[in-house]
Amino acid sequence: MEVGFVGLGLLGQAMVRRLSSKGVKVTVWNRSIEKAKASGFPYVENLEDLSKNEDIIFLCVKDSQAVEAILTKISPYLKNKIIINTSTNSVSKVLEFHRLVKENNGFYLECPVLGSVIPAEKGQLTLLVSGEKEVFEKVKPFLEILAQKWFYLQTPGKATQAKLINNYLLALMMEALASAVVLGEKAGFTKEEFLEILESGVGNSYVLKVKKEALLKESFVPHFSLENLVKDLNYAEELFKTFSGIALEGALVKELYKIGINLGIKEKDFSVIYQVLKKLASLTIKTKKGGDMIKNEVFAALRGIWEITEKDIIFDVLGLTEEERKEVFNLPKISFTDEKNLIFSEVSCII
Ligand SMILES: NC(=O)c1ccc[n+]([C@@H]2O[C@H](COP(=O)([O-])OP(=O)(O)OC[C@H]3O[C@@H](n4cnc5c(N)ncnc54)[C@H](OP(=O)(O)O)[C@@H]3O)[C@@H](O)[C@H]2O)c1
Repeated sequence: MEVGFVGLGLLGQAMVRRLSSKGVKVTVWNRSIEKAKASGFPYVENLEDLSKNEDIIFLCVKDSQAVEAILTKISPYLKNKIIINTSTNSVSKVLEFHRLVKENNGFYLECPVLGSVIPAEKGQLTLLVSGEKEVFEKVKPFLEILAQKWFYLQTPGKATQAKLINNYLLALMMEALASAVVLGEKAGFTKEEFLEILESGVGNSYVLKVKKEALLKESFVPHFSLENLVKDLNYAEELFKTFSGIALEGALVKELYKIGINLGIKEKDFSVIYQVLKKLASLTIKTKKGGDMIKNEVFAALRGIWEITEKDIIFDVLGLTEEERKEVFNLPKISFTDEKNLIFSEVSCII
């Protein structure tokens, strides 16, 4: 059994290791070719060579732009080839990818995954698959090596919809967990003690199970980066808009993760949101005029209220008065000068 594999990021490398450990001959290509060389797997310098030589090609790259660039480059060689795209992309782009591959007489399977590096290494991913049934059946022996469960959802776009809604929930659950731990510590519990309490109650969850060590040790070695989670939240937002839906809490939580990007920790695991919340919880806030600001106002500002159309709903949630609404509304966007200072024109916050 033989395949080509494009993308040696965190997840891609884990999938390649798993396929190879089960006897699949995997030839790899990565944009930064050093990673391909260092991987120890057979590799090609040119992406085109991979597409000429291999009948089945897995993609596991960052975002929709990356997939688009790759498919465009290999489009002359797609005839009778099967592309299995395990990256998480936007629904609108995924529909274009189905079309592009078909127009070039190839076959496209949309195959985003649930699970991360460790499940990938153990063959315990869950796959969400859309595309032609016959093609799915043909590549099943490879998918069975990577996954213990799959959902065949057939209609193009469906697998991506499910994946994005799943990651939306993941982002919210991680933020809720981190926020509860920060509160617990503020209230004087030790982290160990408080995590055990949460574990014995409603906090007992898959997220707590897999992120407990990271939270305890405050070691946020990436399995799934904060940057990639924000990417998925952007795609989820786009999806919700197509259904005229609003996802208010998602918009707020996305802004919190984005603070992590501004703090320069985008490559850390997304569970690093704990550190972001801890910093925010210890904000000292002074206005330039000398008075103290109401913390909620600053949080509302931090949470990017300007980017959300339903501003009034947020103000209702925060319970701001008419006067306070006006004040918040007039705050300019924040800018981050360095890790320690957030500067508003009227307010400076020292983290
Ligand atoms: N990690 C997880 O737990 C996980 C779980 C489920 C789904 N996913 C999804 O799987 C995909 C890969 O995730 P990851 O964690 O492996 O990401 P990652 O560590 O950030 O790696 C990204 C990969 O994409 C490549 N890439 C980026 N832009 C490119 C471009 N314009 N052209 C060609 N290649 C490009 C990178 O190449 P360079 O090495 O040259 O930068 C790298 O190989 C993402 O869509 C992610 O959302 C990840």
